[in-house]
Amino acid sequence: MTILDGKNLANELVIKIRTEVDQITSEGKRAPHLAAILVGNNPASRAYVGNKMKLCEKAGFKSSLVERDINCTEEELLILIKKFNDDPDLDGYIVQLPLPKHIDEQKVLNAISPTKDVDGFHPENIGKMTLGLPGYRPATPLGIMIMLENYGIETSGKHCVVVGRSNIVGTPVSILMSRKGYPGDATVTLAHSRTQDLPGLVRQADIVIAAIGIAEFVKGDWIKSGAVVIDVGMNRVEDPGNSKGYRLTGDVDFTGASVNASAITPVPGGVGPMTVFALIHNTLQAYNSRF
Ligand code: GUN
Repeated sequence: MTILDGKNLANELVIKIRTEVDQITSEGKRAPHLAAILVGNNPASRAYVGNKMKLCEKAGFKSSLVERDINCTEEELLILIKKFNDDPDLDGYIVQLPLPKHIDEQKVLNAISPTKDVDGFHPENIGKMTLGLPGYRPATPLGIMIMLENYGIETSGKHCVVVGRSNIVGTPVSILMSRKGYPGDATVTLAHSRTQDLPGLVRQADIVIAAIGIAEFVKGDWIKSGAVVIDVGMNRVEDPGNSKGYRLTGDVDFTGASVNASAITPVPGGVGPMTVFALIHNTLQAYNSRF
């Protein structure tokens, strides 16, 4: 059984990007620049953004974190976005989700210039992905694709069951897995809360991608012998025995699923670091398209 080690892979891949960036800066050009906007005080969001900024440093990128408190209005956020869109020294930026309830998330995502939308959430980039045209792919699905490719996981003709239909993971990863080429060419089933006999469906899967946001929702005995399991979940479960008071767990029962799986991502250290790497990859793409 193979542990799909996203942390190690992301570190290896970022070293390659670092070499490219060192070459660029040695020629006197500026480094790629990624910015993040963080609104409010969600501890998980803060941790994710921190990881993104840290990986920028490893890649030799410039990074900027702009924080706004929970009372930030939609209008203030849209003004900041306009400033970022117009900044010639900024290649790409993200607005960390979720946003506070009083802000219309889609309106904010629509305001990000598609050329700087390195999270790949803008409808123009989603449309380009759907049509197989060049553009930015959403970071988590792209990170999963890069991982499958680097581990040489066969996807052609395989039955891939995606559990969860969110705009940022389930829906786009189902599109990427069904596209022509590698990784892709899979037969994809997109399962969700209304799906009937989900355990029976997952038992037919050669590749399971769990992105439902419920701790250990996918049980070990749902996994077919030899299946590949990609766990996108990052759930905080109360754990008084842990110094932080919680532990992180995925959407899959890791121990149970490991019995039958041929390969599985751990949580943490699987898809999470690959998402951050994909963001770095997209930012370099943004930089290269400007110079
Ligand atoms: N919240 C959870 N995942 C993501 C992500 O990939 N990007 C952003 N911007 N917010 C998120």
